[in-house]
Amino acid sequence: MAENILEIRNLRFSFRTYGGIVQSVRDVSFEVREGEILGIVGESGCGKSVTSQCILRLNPEPPGFFAGGSIKYRGEEITAKSDREMRKIRGVEIGFIFQDPMTSLNPTMTVGKQIEEVFVGRGGLSRREVKKRALEILRLVGINEPERRYKQYPHELSGGMKQRVMIAIALVGKPSIIIADEPTTSLDVTIEAQILDLLKGLRDAMGLTYLFIAHDLSVVKYISDRVIVMYLGTVVEFSDTEELYTNPLHPYTQVLLSSIPVADPRQAREKKRIMIQGEIPSPINPKDCCRFAERCPYATDACKSSLPPLRELKPGHFVACHRAGEAGI
Ligand SMILES: Nc1ncnc2c1ncn2[C@@H]1O[C@H](COP(=O)(O)OP(=O)(O)O)[C@@H](O)[C@H]1O
Ligand SMILES: [Mg+2]
Repeated sequence: MAENILEIRNLRFSFRTYGGIVQSVRDVSFEVREGEILGIVGESGCGKSVTSQCILRLNPEPPGFFAGGSIKYRGEEITAKSDREMRKIRGVEIGFIFQDPMTSLNPTMTVGKQIEEVFVGRGGLSRREVKKRALEILRLVGINEPERRYKQYPHELSGGMKQRVMIAIALVGKPSIIIADEPTTSLDVTIEAQILDLLKGLRDAMGLTYLFIAHDLSVVKYISDRVIVMYLGTVVEFSDTEELYTNPLHPYTQVLLSSIPVADPRQAREKKRIMIQGEIPSPINPKDCCRFAERCPYATDACKSSLPPLRELKPGHFVACHRAGEAGI
């Protein structure tokens, strides 16, 4: 069995706001195994980004604060690290790629210089060597004519090309895990597919591990070995990808999957479309019950009065639902 690179246990992270305390992450537990691509999926606002930023300690603290739990990176407690210690981990041990490459890249600096800056920060290389490495890494992320791209500014590149540069920058520090938060969300579908294939290929070639976040279920299905489904700051389901997509156990996952369009019209007719009522409730001062109860067609009194724990209903398949596994659900 592969080693766990990250172990997250009962993580709670909240923000103090004028409206009250926003409980963005409530009792989240999972581990990331060496070499895997672990996907996190869920609607906007469910806590995917805050969870991943906890691992990098990039949430603003204050107003954000850890309200409980632990994050262990190769056995070391992340929640106890100082800013200085985190600077040695970020980008070097744990890399990251975010959604919008335009805001993450420096518009006033050439692509080459931005990549080289990371090498220079690591020290010990001559200028020639640094340039050679920067060109190598541009080639590695599938950028043709690296010599030309090296001299260009971010605005001269297409969206897909900019995201490749971001991936290149993330790779320079040789991190053992990369957190990718919606890295393809702002791209066209064909470019998105190319970037997903690039990330997969790099994982295989370099033995990388990813925590891959997206709100698009088909994207997460395509790239992930295992998938976590989040709803309002909690993990509602966690399993191998194939198993999760063929046997979703949580009513919320079933709703999400029933809304993916299917290419085959025969399947579309057979597929049960589940409709849910209501809006996503507010994460401010949430009730201590199942977060999905208000919108769930199967909710009982128990669901509205107690928080269901994550339980292993089948080997490796976890679900946080009082009623999952009952006939007809
Ligand atoms: N700096 C902040 N201050 C207050 N609330 C925040 C802050 N950052 C995130 N949140 C809240 O935390 C919740 C989770 O947000 P986020 O993790 O960004 O969602 P996702 O990435 O799944 O779309 C949301 O309700 C969001 O409004
Ligand atoms: Mg997000």
